[in-house]
Amino acid sequence: MIGIIGGTGIYKIVELGDEIVSRVVDTPYGPSPEMSVFQLHGREVVFMPRHNLGHAKPPHMVNYLSNIYALKKMGVKRVIATNAVGSMDESIKPGDFVIPNDFLDFTRMRKGTFYDDRTVHIDVTEPYCSELRDILISSGKVKRNGVYVCTEGPRFETAAEIQMFRQLGGTIVGMTGLPEVILARELEMCYSSICTVSNFAASISPSKLTVDEVFEVVETKRKDLIKLLSDSIAKIPSENQCDCGSTLDGAEVGDLLKPEDL
Ligand code: HPA
Repeated sequence: MIGIIGGTGIYKIVELGDEIVSRVVDTPYGPSPEMSVFQLHGREVVFMPRHNLGHAKPPHMVNYLSNIYALKKMGVKRVIATNAVGSMDESIKPGDFVIPNDFLDFTRMRKGTFYDDRTVHIDVTEPYCSELRDILISSGKVKRNGVYVCTEGPRFETAAEIQMFRQLGGTIVGMTGLPEVILARELEMCYSSICTVSNFAASISPSKLTVDEVFEVVETKRKDLIKLLSDSIAKIPSENQCDCGSTLDGAEVGDLLKPEDL
């Protein structure tokens, strides 16, 4: 099963296939958004609108734990997320797609792990699945790398923040990429993202940032995004070659420390 998480402006993708069933899944973290399951290229795909239908949940209120847990419960092994972002690099323009390869986490108030009663330190040297990234890169016109800066939101950034993020190596900025990528990795799922650049970031943009602009650009790119998703899904092999499925190996304290050692 392949999971698609739809970001801003992408709440249903009827173009991709006939819905077989729509599902809300209960999780220990609360109910999931309403998801739709459909067949594409002979594969089962489940689509989840990250913000719920009608963009009911702003980025800082999204229940990332229940979203990712619900996908895992549905049997999803690979996730392709879509995110709207601002660009902090003049060579990455509104309308471009970026496949991030790394992130800087500037969120502040989000619960970012499934493991509160086990001590688990996962390796995130390469947080996004390299196999899925290669597939996305080979399936359309995209920028092949990007450092995604995740802010808490819901406000946009100040000019000084954008200057700082650039100096730190950030290239795109959004509010929803974290902790989603980490939570998927904690449950040993492959995770990748297609970021649609909707605007130049604050202070690089010649004008005030508006959500209208973000929605407008995402809507303009919707067809291309859906084609990229479809062409990518056609290429996903049934057995993955990456090591996302063994993220927990060597990550947990406890197997080594037995009570008699303490
Ligand atoms: N900043 C943060 N999040 C965003 C932006 C931005 O400029 N554009 C779309 N999502």
